[in-house]
Amino acid sequence: MSLNTTHLNQSLTHFDHHSSFWLFGYGSLIWKAGFPYLECRPAHIRGWIRRFWQGSHDHRGTPESPGRVATLIPEAQAICHGMAYRITPETLAPLDVREKNGYLREVTTLHFDDGGSAEGLTYIATRDNAAFLGPAPLENIARQIALARGPSGPNPDYLLNLADALRRLGHRDEHVFALERMLTSLLKEQAPPTDP
Ligand code: SIN
Repeated sequence: MSLNTTHLNQSLTHFDHHSSFWLFGYGSLIWKAGFPYLECRPAHIRGWIRRFWQGSHDHRGTPESPGRVATLIPEAQAICHGMAYRITPETLAPLDVREKNGYLREVTTLHFDDGGSAEGLTYIATRDNAAFLGPAPLENIARQIALARGPSGPNPDYLLNLADALRRLGHRDEHVFALERMLTSLLKEQAPPTDP
């Protein structure tokens, strides 16, 4: 099931009158910006963990066979690392469309890895959105990702690119890395045998 959140997001007006502001990305927005930005800085936000608990019917899966992509789940003391982009307000319109499958703009405090902080926005798919899939054994999540593919490409690419991007940033995320390990071995099992 899916619910288009584009219009809901476009009714939100935080930062409308700022010439620029910060957007925090923690999923595909880390490794595939695909939008114009004025600068980017590695950053983290506090009180959230990244989880592959959001269904993707529009990018990395289909309504019949949804993929799984990242969202943020509140957890006291947790830190979620990602990338901050300084953008202008016009950039939100295409992002609202890209994040339409359940994500809502949320105001948050970004802490830059090299010091300092700023208020900004992040897109979060909360538990009450129609595409939310929620927790499942990691093995099941990895299997679902291994099989799914959507208009933006194979679901495995999303996870593998995210894991690579986090490694390049120098951050560990055990949820992502454990899924990456399982997915990699599933993909090996699925690969056709090579000639000796
Ligand atoms: C994000 O990357 O910040 C949001 C989720 C996604 O687009 O993958």
